Amino acid sequence: MKDTQDTFVQKTNAQVADDKFYWEVLEGLTKKQKSLPSKYFYDAKGDRLFQQIMECPEYYLTRCELEIFTDRTADLAAAIGFNHEPFDIIELGAGDGTKTIYLLEYLANHHTDFRYLPVDISANILTELELLVHARLPKVNIQMLAGEYLDMISEARMLSDRRKVILFLGGNIGNLTPNEAGDFYREIGRQLQPGDSMVTGFDLMKNPHIVKAAYDDARGITKAFNLNLLHRINKELGADFDVNLFEHYCSYNPENGACKSYLVSTVQQKVNLQGTVVHFEEGETILMEISQKYSPESIIALAASGGFEVVASLKDKKGWFTDSVWRLAEQ
Ligand code: AVJ
Repeated sequence: MKDTQDTFVQKTNAQVADDKFYWEVLEGLTKKQKSLPSKYFYDAKGDRLFQQIMECPEYYLTRCELEIFTDRTADLAAAIGFNHEPFDIIELGAGDGTKTIYLLEYLANHHTDFRYLPVDISANILTELELLVHARLPKVNIQMLAGEYLDMISEARMLSDRRKVILFLGGNIGNLTPNEAGDFYREIGRQLQPGDSMVTGFDLMKNPHIVKAAYDDARGITKAFNLNLLHRINKELGADFDVNLFEHYCSYNPENGACKSYLVSTVQQKVNLQGTVVHFEEGETILMEISQKYSPESIIALAASGGFEVVASLKDKKGWFTDSVWRLAEQ
């Protein structure tokens, strides 16, 4: 039996998640340089807007990676060592699975013994993904994990001791700074066993005009995608952002590969977040997202920081994007 105090602090998972959302938003809005965590872009509306971004002519990332997954499927499968013992594919930030399905299909056609464990912070998009996999590949064993990446890797390790293949596609790694990315791979390296594989989709440094346009599309979908987080904070945390008083600004620094999205307050204003008043000067910015671009050398260095060896780096024909396949080395 629980004592009363224990019962008092008992919270549902949903409440804990809401609290976390609130505290992270409060923390971001009370810093000197205001910021909001981009992982919260993806509510149902945000998922839909991101799908529209992927269809924008300017947003090349998805098409480049899709080309790798359709044209280089056999090389990809070979690089992850698909013809050895049974393994689990854990996909971080699986999204709608449009690219991964080609790899899964190849593996299924080659009678590979694997399970597919997609992880996403959006339970909503995972349902869509499950429908796609059931429809196209009814025999594939799929188990969905809704939550944050590192928590779900621990969860997946408890589910089985098979060899692990981690997929982290789409340039999602770009949402971490290079330092955070180093820490991320160090942590993943600690959680995996020698021989396990890590596949990351990196957006490469290129002509800065091309990069910048991808985050500043002519139809304003990226703007709506950023503003949607303010709408979400209003709806779920009871804030009173006047979304019309913010505009979208994006910068790309070709020297270090950092592409950053901001919302700019067009007037001096106050926003109320559950009793905390947040002041904005005219022209003050909220850093919304970083989408880091990498050089081939920095990718090799990143692999090494987690104890990985680079097995293969597959690029699209334009050389704009790469899926880099690593294997965890013996200690
Ligand atoms: C889903 C994180 C890969 O950074 O390119 C697209 C998100 N933001 N347009 C990216 C995004 C603005 C995207 N990732």
